[in-house]
Amino acid sequence: MSSPTSSFSSGLAGITAGETSISAAGGDHDLDYRGYAIEDLTRDTCFEEVAHLLIHGHLPNKSELDDYKARLISLRILPDELAHVLKAIPKSCHPMNMLQTATCYLGTIEAETNPLADDGQTSKALADRLVALYPSIIAYWWRYHFEKDKAPDLSSDQDTIAAYFLDVLLQKKPIDLHVAGINVSLILYAEHEFNASTFTSRIIASTYSDFYSSVSGAIGALRGPLHGGANEAAMDLIAKFKTPEDARIGIASMLRNKELIMGFGHRVYKSGDPRNKIIKKWSKMLCKEGDNEKLYRVSEAIEHMMFDEKRLFPNLDFYSASSYNMMNIPTPLFTPVFVMSRITGWAAHIIEQRQNNKLIRPNSHYVGPERKEFVPLDQR
Ligand code: COA
Repeated sequence: MSSPTSSFSSGLAGITAGETSISAAGGDHDLDYRGYAIEDLTRDTCFEEVAHLLIHGHLPNKSELDDYKARLISLRILPDELAHVLKAIPKSCHPMNMLQTATCYLGTIEAETNPLADDGQTSKALADRLVALYPSIIAYWWRYHFEKDKAPDLSSDQDTIAAYFLDVLLQKKPIDLHVAGINVSLILYAEHEFNASTFTSRIIASTYSDFYSSVSGAIGALRGPLHGGANEAAMDLIAKFKTPEDARIGIASMLRNKELIMGFGHRVYKSGDPRNKIIKKWSKMLCKEGDNEKLYRVSEAIEHMMFDEKRLFPNLDFYSASSYNMMNIPTPLFTPVFVMSRITGWAAHIIEQRQNNKLIRPNSHYVGPERKEFVPLDQR
């Protein structure tokens, strides 16, 4: 039994649980991926460059990027066995459970048999496979179950993940603004040091379990509304209000009832989420282009109320909700889109964990009863 020490903290808040060279959040760095500021990455790169940076360790040059994009295109074709499984996963399930199941199933047909032997090449190859495949998995399952498309055809001439995803999900050529919006969102969601899902993936990797187990565990952690599920929950909330005034009244009442408002607050950032500044601008542009400025004004009214009443600010999930809505992404797919992006960060952390592994196994502080005399079954 261990006793509380100076490093004991509920929810591990404020505890430094390991080292990473993948990203730095908070403090002097607003948010950097391998030393690059997200402001620069979202302004000047495509998601594939960021995926390469995170998984393969550096920003690609032009020919590396061309090769990488071509490889991802070749890897996005769904195996027939997986397509059958996607058809069998019920429409009624949450798409995050579908993604978790698809990941586990892929781990049976394209198994990683010896994680201990990985010198980084296997995990990088598996990471690229999942980066390429998640948009296909999501679009296929959605179209089969919700568009009554009994044989979804995922052929597309789009050569980026952002454009391919919108094309095969919505079955029409996406406009440039939407492709750029998804691209920015995928970059913003890609990596965030020791958040709950990434830490989960590292814990699983630290046991030398296989790559797919680490990723499916991470998907489970991301699903919850205190983490990735907040973008879906934020949309459900925003959609309840018809006007900014409705929103102010509704939020005031929720706060009086001590309800959590999803998409606000953060464990690491206490005075603003640097990602919010970027996604908020995109939300404004997308609402304007889609002729739904009311959606933006309702969102802003909620933001102002939260600041006035609680001094809380929106995190990345809040304005991602209105942005995705304006790009016609169905609300239940908001968190799966997060997976399409965060797979890059999870993969980078699994690779880093394997490079210098130490089993992650903290202590607990026991608060149960003192030792008791054991009473045999027939005397209890
Ligand atoms: N709505 C209402 N109140 C909130 C809040 C929110 N979104 N976020 C924090 N608070 C309140 C808490 O109730 C708490 O109040 P109290 O001191 O009166 O009990 C206080 O602010 C501190 O919050 P706490 O939960 O201790 O902070 P944390 O660091 O443990 O939690 C989050 C961080 C993200 C889990 C929390 O802000 C939250 O639940 N947000 C909503 C979910 C969300 O958007 N998640 C995505 C994160 S990127």
